[in-house]
Amino acid sequence: MNKINILKKKIRNKQAKIGVIGLGYVGLPLVIEFLKKNFNVFGFDNDIIKINKLKKNESYINYINFNSLSKKQVLNFNPTNKFSNIREVDIIIICLPTPLSKNNNPDMTFIKNSLKQIKNYLKDGQLLILESTTYPGTTKDIIFPILIKKNFKIGKNFYVSYSPERQDPGNKKFGLKKTPKLVSGATSNCLELSYILYSMIVDKVVKVNSLEVAELSKLYENIFRSINIGLANEMKIICEKLCIDFYDVIKAASTKPFGFLPFYPGPGLGGHCIPIDPFYLKWIAKKNNVNAKFIELSAKINNSMPIYVLKKIRYALKKYNLSLSHSKILIIGVAYKKNVDDTRESPSLKIMKMLKQNKVSVDYFDPFVPILKKSRNSSLKMKSKILNKNLLLKYDCTVLLTDHDELNYNLIKKYSKIIVDTRGKYKADQIKIFNA
Ligand SMILES: NC(=O)c1ccc[n+]([C@@H]2O[C@H](COP(=O)([O-])OP(=O)(O)OC[C@H]3O[C@@H](n4cnc5c(N)ncnc54)[C@H](O)[C@@H]3O)[C@@H](O)[C@H]2O)c1
Repeated sequence: MNKINILKKKIRNKQAKIGVIGLGYVGLPLVIEFLKKNFNVFGFDNDIIKINKLKKNESYINYINFNSLSKKQVLNFNPTNKFSNIREVDIIIICLPTPLSKNNNPDMTFIKNSLKQIKNYLKDGQLLILESTTYPGTTKDIIFPILIKKNFKIGKNFYVSYSPERQDPGNKKFGLKKTPKLVSGATSNCLELSYILYSMIVDKVVKVNSLEVAELSKLYENIFRSINIGLANEMKIICEKLCIDFYDVIKAASTKPFGFLPFYPGPGLGGHCIPIDPFYLKWIAKKNNVNAKFIELSAKINNSMPIYVLKKIRYALKKYNLSLSHSKILIIGVAYKKNVDDTRESPSLKIMKMLKQNKVSVDYFDPFVPILKKSRNSSLKMKSKILNKNLLLKYDCTVLLTDHDELNYNLIKKYSKIIVDTRGKYKADQIKIFNA
């Protein structure tokens, strides 16, 4: 039997060993899906703290856990920081961060460093899949040269694929299994292998005809979101001037069964994807002498929202003859979106930083984030308060930034002196409740 048929057979009878590199928000759920189907999975991460936790079957992300797995399935998981174990696996799936550099250009260092770590352990017959979100051309630009240098014949004795991760953290309806998965391959052999692989764990796998189409489709999906959120934010500001409730407008427009999709305004963009991915396309467009005007405009609007919120807090306090500086403010929600514990790029952090710079005494409550640790973009180190009547009464103003489902909205409304609501949870009355 030739190499490709051997690998196909191994995948179909679950004998193929899977290696997932990067055990974060994308890598860890993928590991769990393969374990559920009784595959043997190596999980690679260079963060030893994460590895040690995972070795004890403890997850470090609150909505991702091993509870649905049997004891035997859990034993099939081998978390490790020893990259020589790449030799042991048949399939390598890269789920590493793709952030921005200081100049807002693609930062490929995580992927490049990882390839350096694993390149000596790559072997004949393996399938390597990139899942990280990135600009079209990455797989060919960054992965191909390493394989060619090692004399692999792509599509003949080594297989390469790109399959974007589309997960929506916290979305209970569309998890990994229920979200159609796009797959592409360097050759038809590569495409076929990744199609068979993902069909083992995802209900619907969709083949696309090139690596670049798969790479760009992911960017397009996220840019579609960021641009529409930018439009919603602009609409919110216009509606305020016109004294029209924008949430009523969204509700009305949403009754149209075609040609309209509702997007909601907020305090700004957060998370690892929506604020970052548009810049990947902007960068590759610029390299090809095209200015991505839509992307720039929506980023400008979305990035200005934290300042808009700050102005609204100042305005609301002024109505009560209070000045922003030396006021006491309680922030509700530091996660970048509801029902998750992820604070990466969260607009809450930007708003809290600005409040502190204005000498405001700031505390926060977030049931998903008991401790706020220092991160790449924030030096805030704080502990969540416990939400109750006495807590709310202590502050001049409560600012709702993340609309977690489990929040007690009646309690917040009853005992807050002033509410600045960035999520449209309350009807603004311009007396106690202000939208922002
Ligand atoms: N988070 C999401 O909702 C989401 C959704 C779709 C796509 N994506 C994309 O998926 C990719 C991964 O994102 P994420 O949110 O899972 O990131 P993450 O930061 O949660 O996880 C990345 C993991 O990689 C590890 N790591 C860093 N360098 C390493 C190395 N050299 N070797 C091994 N491990 C290393 C880190 O310790 C971390 O555990 C990104 O490209 C992102 O844009 C993310």
